[in-house]
Amino acid sequence: MARTPEGSLDAPLPVPDAVLKRRNVRHFRPDPLAPGLLDRLVELAVKAPSSWNLQPWRIVVVRDAAQRERLYAACFGQVQVREAPVSFVFAISQGGWRSVMDDVVRAARERGAWEAGYADAMPRLATRAQEALGERLREYNVKDALIAATHLVLSAESMGLGTCFMNGYDEARVKEVVGAGADPDVGVALVLSVGYAERRGRDPGRLPLERVVFAERLDAPWRGAANQRASAP
Ligand SMILES: Cc1cc2nc3c(=O)[nH]c(=O)nc-3n(C[C@H](O)[C@H](O)[C@H](O)COP(=O)(O)O)c2cc1C
Repeated sequence: MARTPEGSLDAPLPVPDAVLKRRNVRHFRPDPLAPGLLDRLVELAVKAPSSWNLQPWRIVVVRDAAQRERLYAACFGQVQVREAPVSFVFAISQGGWRSVMDDVVRAARERGAWEAGYADAMPRLATRAQEALGERLREYNVKDALIAATHLVLSAESMGLGTCFMNGYDEARVKEVVGAGADPDVGVALVLSVGYAERRGRDPGRLPLERVVFAERLDAPWRGAANQRASAP
């Protein structure tokens, strides 16, 4: 099937094209996603890697009109949440890793993905590492959830959809919307709206590479592979 510049489920754009085409979309058409797209996006999001493969994300798919309206209010009235046919709340479970550990190890064993020695030791090693994180466990869980969200965003772009990443929400209110109001185990890493772009903004550009990329150490701006010594000074 011929690939269009927009991409589709049957003829998705290559990853670099999806990266270049992606813009943060703030206005969506009301049309629902084409059949198959939503399921595909969810499947691809959860293929993301995570620390110890413990998959701390708890992704809530919000499509119902009344739920979207509540989420819109919890996101300080950002219109993209009201307009998009679907928004995802990337929640995290702080303690969920304890209850999924056995299933994670069993799946890896059945697939022959881990050597027996590693599979035997992993629960002990992971438990020690997770417990040692203390307050930083939330940060680690958020990292994993954002990687999953980015998988979803680039997959959506490759299929002709637009997306809007959002930090602009009241976490307590979003938790209430998804039914976790009083649950201290649950956090919100991101809200993400997805749909067909009504309009795409222009690329706001990025800082020059030498301001944000460095060679070996932060005091050596990156000047491109050809102009850079490969060894540390
Ligand atoms: C983690 C994250 C949170 C963001 N939060 C919001 C938001 O709450 N509302 C919004 O309109 N845009 C939000 N943005 C979009 C950024 O403003 C946008 O990505 C940036 O200006 C670059 O534009 P581009 O995505 O088109 O390249 C967010 C982006 C990221 C990555």
